[in-house]
Amino acid sequence: MLANFPIPKVTFQSGDAPLDRTPLLVWGLAKSPDPERIALPGKIPEADRLIAGGDFRAENLETILVYPEKGPERLLLIGLGDPTNMDIDHFRRFGAKAAREAKRLRVGQFTIQLPPEAGADVLRVVAQGAVLGTADPKTTPDAPPIKSISIHGREGSDEIARLGTALAEATFFARSLVIEPPNRLTPAALAEHAEGIASEKGVTVRVFDEKAIEKEGLHALANVGMGSSNKPRFVVAEYDGTGGEGPLVALIGKGITFDSGGLSLKSADRMVNMKYDMGGSAAVLGAFRSAARLSLPIRIAAIIPSAENMPSADAYRPGDVVPSYKGLTIEVDNTDAEGRLVLADGLAWAEKNLKPDEMIDAATLTGACRIALGRHAAGLFSNDDAFAARIRQAGHLSGELVWQLPLWNQYDRELESDVADMKNVGRGGAGGGASVAASFLYRFVDQTPWAHLDIAGMAWNNSKNELFNRGPTGFGAGLLLTYLAERSGRGTS
Ligand code: BES
Ligand code: MN
Ligand code: ZN
Repeated sequence: MLANFPIPKVTFQSGDAPLDRTPLLVWGLAKSPDPERIALPGKIPEADRLIAGGDFRAENLETILVYPEKGPERLLLIGLGDPTNMDIDHFRRFGAKAAREAKRLRVGQFTIQLPPEAGADVLRVVAQGAVLGTADPKTTPDAPPIKSISIHGREGSDEIARLGTALAEATFFARSLVIEPPNRLTPAALAEHAEGIASEKGVTVRVFDEKAIEKEGLHALANVGMGSSNKPRFVVAEYDGTGGEGPLVALIGKGITFDSGGLSLKSADRMVNMKYDMGGSAAVLGAFRSAARLSLPIRIAAIIPSAENMPSADAYRPGDVVPSYKGLTIEVDNTDAEGRLVLADGLAWAEKNLKPDEMIDAATLTGACRIALGRHAAGLFSNDDAFAARIRQAGHLSGELVWQLPLWNQYDRELESDVADMKNVGRGGAGGGASVAASFLYRFVDQTPWAHLDIAGMAWNNSKNELFNRGPTGFGAGLLLTYLAERSGRGTS
């Protein structure tokens, strides 16, 4: 059983929220020198007095709780700061803050009143943020689950509220997979969770076990999996919301359920949390599942090459030359650079057998990417700049920032081997490891527009904020779902 993140029902109503005796009403109020603008004057005198007296100044995410004599049981004012400086991320945090406070107050439902200037894009992110904010099981274990959230504003629809909710649902599903301890979430267990998605309409799931992997010629994946008694799996999940006619987007997720480094063993501190090395596959499955639930009019394939990277008498070694699905041979210099091997087979298999219109892979691929971009953005690499720009935009919309890094021949040349078609790590060893790894992957892609997301720095969070608890973030699930929604014409931009 995966960790359960209950999803509240989020609805939209146009117009002002009624001032009836609900448990909690939240007002989002922007800052203004003109006190008229931040008050909803005359309706709740206690709030008017706080604003007029300067006790509440609508600073960014400033909150004050009011117990009005008449109207809602509680009125929570949340500041939105300077109205000229409001991007959508701001509203996502506002939604999350509202939910965090609702949780703390132990109410089972609440209402949000958006400010008058809020458009449909704001509704989407407030819904997404509010649902993300409900997930805080550790600090409020005794709080009842939040069952419903009703959002009131000038512009929007239930469909947009549903898309916002689905973004959080995709993220939660990804997190629940990553939370699983690695002794439970073996490659076989990951494949079973993927098979569970076959209950959604339009979805079929195939799983290749270790024998089928060999037979299919997925040699690079097979080699990475050899050292573990938890044998590898290759998952192919397909969704068709178009009757076979629409464009096909293939998503490939790195599914290393535990990365010890193999014989090139990691040190103890680097091995901590390496259960999250399947974060890419979790993001892919989260987006895939929610896209099917939304019945998006598009075709999607989710491909998960999954293995456990362990040292043993059967493990692949530094120095081995390993064949791959594409036929290219790989000299293994470091068994800890295993992600690129399993993805190489995933990408080559997907391109050859599914002929997708586009491929996107997500992987906790390199520590180097975390060094390059910190815990603020994932690395983006692509053979098609226009495609990359659309992915960057999806990340902006979902609140999962990505930044493009180079995929130049200089990096590719570092992979030169004397005994095989390539080495699995760069010769230079002088940095640029994220680009070298991406260049390795690029050798396994022919013509298809392709983007690679290196989420190593983003899939795990050591601190917490409004949107994320400590631990797995589910990074990438919202971005991929946003991309799929936009690609299918069901987005908001
Ligand atoms: N799973 C790791 C990358 C990683 C590192 C993810 C830190 C999250 C946090 C990957 O398999 C790996 O070990 N990469 C090596 C590559 C090196 C051997 C060229 C790395 O980044 O050190
Ligand atoms: Mn590794
Ligand atoms: Zn790894």
